[in-house]
Amino acid sequence: MTLTPANFPTARLRRTRQSSAIRGLVRENTLTVDDLIWPVFVRDGDGVEEPVPSMPGVFRRSVDKIVEAAREAADLGIPVICLFPYTDPALKTEDCAEAWNPDNLSNRATRAIKAAVPEIAVMTDIALDPYNIHGHDGFVENGHIINDRTVEALVKQALSQAEAGADILGPSDMMDGRIGAIRIALEAKNHQNVTIMSYAAKYASAFYGPFRDAVGASGALKGDKTTYQMDPANSDEALRLVARDLSEGADMVMVKPGMPYLDICRRVKDEFGVPTFAYQVSGEYAMIKAAAQNGWIDGDRAMVESLMAFKRAGCDGILSYFAPEVARKMG
Ligand code: PBG
Repeated sequence: MTLTPANFPTARLRRTRQSSAIRGLVRENTLTVDDLIWPVFVRDGDGVEEPVPSMPGVFRRSVDKIVEAAREAADLGIPVICLFPYTDPALKTEDCAEAWNPDNLSNRATRAIKAAVPEIAVMTDIALDPYNIHGHDGFVENGHIINDRTVEALVKQALSQAEAGADILGPSDMMDGRIGAIRIALEAKNHQNVTIMSYAAKYASAFYGPFRDAVGASGALKGDKTTYQMDPANSDEALRLVARDLSEGADMVMVKPGMPYLDICRRVKDEFGVPTFAYQVSGEYAMIKAAAQNGWIDGDRAMVESLMAFKRAGCDGILSYFAPEVARKMG
């Protein structure tokens, strides 16, 4: 007599994997173009598309080229484009005043996109690092990142982005109290429909390396960001941060990086049931691209598999540099 489990052959789980039709029928999650937010890098100039060496397929684009990219993204059905400025080093100062200049690169790009491609939503980044001579997300005094004075500056930055027409503000700075301060200021200035996607659980991660090259912050950054970004060892703390940011007026929350933190995405979604996003960051993109370029993995399959994993982990959407590439594949 052969030894078989009591419920065999009743439970042959391979039955529902036997054909593409049946696999499709029982598939639990789907990835669609509606799930995608495309992060892009903006730089000065005209007609410029400059490759970012550590992120194959990613460019720093001048405003006119960003508008073209937004047009293509909208035509692919991508709902949101997220702007990150590459700021001229000469504009980086101690007081970070360029951050709330109504005519800074990010605001000019927002206005240009909203005028030419009104159907795509524009998301912007709130943090001082592109404008800070120290490369940090907040003001630095005697080697310390100063919280409350930074929040006042972030509020000015948020208002200038809302004035320019941003639909979604993304505070990525990890200061305490910034969501509430920004929400109150938006209400006071008649911007009650501007949404906030809080970078609620943002970890002090090695996976941001290529991004810091892309925005020209690597050289400027002195020290690390461990006094404001989260310790990769922590998970309960992420729930406290999400609860806090929701109570202060965040509409949506984000976990960042993505792939190494899928457990956090799942905990956040299960605990709060709110719109939950993950940022598949520059280093994650670079790893997949580099391995694919070496012929070590199938880049297309790894791209789709990695994005589907976010849906399985409970995310409503993903910020990913793969957005146009995967949208074209799905199209
Ligand atoms: C900084 C910011 C970072 C990213 C988005 N906003 C880097 C950092 O915190 O140093 C990283 C995104 C990526 O790596 O793709 N405000």
